[in-house]
Amino acid sequence: MAYPGPPRKVNSLIRYIAVAVVILTGLFFFKHSAYSLSAPQYLGTAPTTEQEPLAPPAEAERPFVEAPPPPPEPTPAKVHAIDTLIADADKRFDEMMKKECHDLKCAAAEYRKRRGRHPPPGFDTWFKFAQDNGAVIVEDFFDQIHHDLAPFWGFHPAQMRKEASNFEMNINIRNKKASAESEWFWTQIWLNLTQTVEHLLPDMDIALNAMDEPRIVVPWEEINEYMDIERQTRNMPPAADVIQTYNNLPPPTEGDPDMEVVSKDWEDDLPYWKIASRGCHPESLARKAEIMEDFSHSPSLSLAHANPHTYRGYVSNYSQSTDFCHQPDLQGLHGALIHPLSVSATSQMFPLFGGSKLSTNNEILLPAPMYWMGGERFSGGNDHGGAWAEKMDHVIWRGVATGGRNTEDNWKGFQRHRFVAMTNATQVSRAESWEAIPQNFALPSSQYDLAAQHENRLGEWISEWADTGFVDLMCEPQQDNGTCEYTGNYFAVTPGMKMGDQFDRKYLPDIDGNSFSGRYRGFLMSTSLPIKATLFKEWHDSRLVAWKHFVPMDNRFLDFWGIMQYFLGYEGEKTRIESHDAEAQKIANAGQIWANRVLRKEDMQIYVLRLLLEYARLSDERRELMGYVQDLM
Ligand SMILES: *[C@@H]1O[C@H](CO)[C@@H](O)[C@H](O)[C@H]1NC(C)=O
Ligand SMILES: *[C@@H]1O[C@H](CO)[C@@H](O)[C@H](O)[C@H]1NC(C)=O
Ligand SMILES: *[C@@H]1O[C@H](CO)[C@@H](O)[C@H](O)[C@H]1NC(C)=O
Ligand SMILES: *[C@@H]1O[C@H](CO)[C@@H](O)[C@H](O)[C@H]1NC(C)=O
Repeated sequence: MAYPGPPRKVNSLIRYIAVAVVILTGLFFFKHSAYSLSAPQYLGTAPTTEQEPLAPPAEAERPFVEAPPPPPEPTPAKVHAIDTLIADADKRFDEMMKKECHDLKCAAAEYRKRRGRHPPPGFDTWFKFAQDNGAVIVEDFFDQIHHDLAPFWGFHPAQMRKEASNFEMNINIRNKKASAESEWFWTQIWLNLTQTVEHLLPDMDIALNAMDEPRIVVPWEEINEYMDIERQTRNMPPAADVIQTYNNLPPPTEGDPDMEVVSKDWEDDLPYWKIASRGCHPESLARKAEIMEDFSHSPSLSLAHANPHTYRGYVSNYSQSTDFCHQPDLQGLHGALIHPLSVSATSQMFPLFGGSKLSTNNEILLPAPMYWMGGERFSGGNDHGGAWAEKMDHVIWRGVATGGRNTEDNWKGFQRHRFVAMTNATQVSRAESWEAIPQNFALPSSQYDLAAQHENRLGEWISEWADTGFVDLMCEPQQDNGTCEYTGNYFAVTPGMKMGDQFDRKYLPDIDGNSFSGRYRGFLMSTSLPIKATLFKEWHDSRLVAWKHFVPMDNRFLDFWGIMQYFLGYEGEKTRIESHDAEAQKIANAGQIWANRVLRKEDMQIYVLRLLLEYARLSDERRELMGYVQDLM
């Protein structure tokens, strides 16, 4: 009574706004919760277990393509999709970190909870090693190990050992000493890594893929059978029945005389998509799609197949975005699927270790050699660039026109060529004015609502901040000084730039080369912001959270300009769009701090030790009874 409320009219206005805010928040939360509260991203992409989505939602059902009609009264500012994605990433990261363990009992319990088995023998020494080396211990960080090894629960252990000891290139561990006959530099680097934990390892042989390209694609149907056995054998025998030690093995050359190495029938068919897609679910779009054979035309670029892993045009499920089974159009948009530098593939299951792979490959991932022994070329050395505020508001990219073997007849499908062309102001301006039809990219769709495009100065705007170029056009056949007859009209041979100097720019797109991009760790550890698109899986995938530690980008790159408008803002003739520099800085910082905590060389050792204990158990006939159970006794 003494404090009468505001006049009735204002009161109802406030109520209206409150209701509108509640509705909008609810709407966004609802749209969003579908991918925020579920299992870690990584699990679902298992080509081995999950069924792929049967079909993308029809064009008309695409959420939020059109802005909803504005309410009549004052509208609360529309939340940008990227704001929502960043908030969601923060939440997901916090959820994951709640599972951090500080003692062995917790780590073993988390293992049993997530894996449905006892940890492998030696888990206690692993834990001690991890803790002594200052590791952040979250069971989810090791998901990739279980993804890679799970099918081997359905594969005969003696066969595993035979294949591993007989492979052309391998590391052998006997009596706590690791050795390798091969002098190949990758083998030597992996040997060096393995030797740092050899004193904690049982006997085993580790077959290595020495090629850039991953090699094994077992058909989905066969992997599914192995996975059935994995599920059937998942159990936790009573502690008293558990075997807690590993067996010693005979010298690698002896092997089991009764076992035969299975012929690999190495294939070199092109396009590689034919091989890669047999690892997809039989009902997936990839398996049903017609196979492209002609890559000479300008590719058609559409967001239709990006729908399942995007939210209003931006990547919302990063691991799904790196899986091509629901994205048949990528067969013509990525060099690794069109024409890898070399192809030597097999459909034969066997344990082969490698540094990276596509979502349907069956290799077992180790940290890539250049991460363990990266010099300036990959890491930028100790020069991480200066303070954020002093960096230029620029996008910088330099690289070789790799991606596979580009030729006059296929380069238009190659990802690096696409990215460099669509960040070339001249080419974009000519496309805008219809002076030239783009050879290998498309102008942004209206969904991204780009102010520069509305003002017909997209190219001009790009020229304000983009600095991208090839240092070598990688012609086929090779030409002098990195030039190329068939791509030279569209791309200039551009001087390189040291990583340290690149880090004076804020934005660092990272695009796949012949396989994964080895600079990624260096980018994360710089103080600039990586913008990442890839089809390759790596050891560290489950410890990095998209939009928290880096900015994810779709493999078509159609979202790139929208990402840049969000971060840089826009000052045009009539329009002004606010920048989100603080958000960019926040992600760049968080990524750097996180990389320095979980992507250290120690973390690679910890990962490898854990991986190899698991692998050694799997290679033993007694595997279903082997485990670490001290904590239960
Ligand atoms: C990502 O997509 C996969 C399906 O491929 C799904 O299983 C998983 O739960 C999704 N992850 C998130 C975080 O939404
Ligand atoms: C691994 O390589 C590094 C650098 O060359 C060397 O210092 C170290 O001694 C090597 N470690 C082992 C176990 O060989
Ligand atoms: C290649 O570059 C060198 C050094 O700039 C130059 O002298 C040479 O003429 C170039 N060769 C061709 C074929 O353009
Ligand atoms: C940008 O495109 C133009 C026109 O195609 C081309 O002449 C130029 O060399 C390109 N620039 C770079 C850095 O590739």
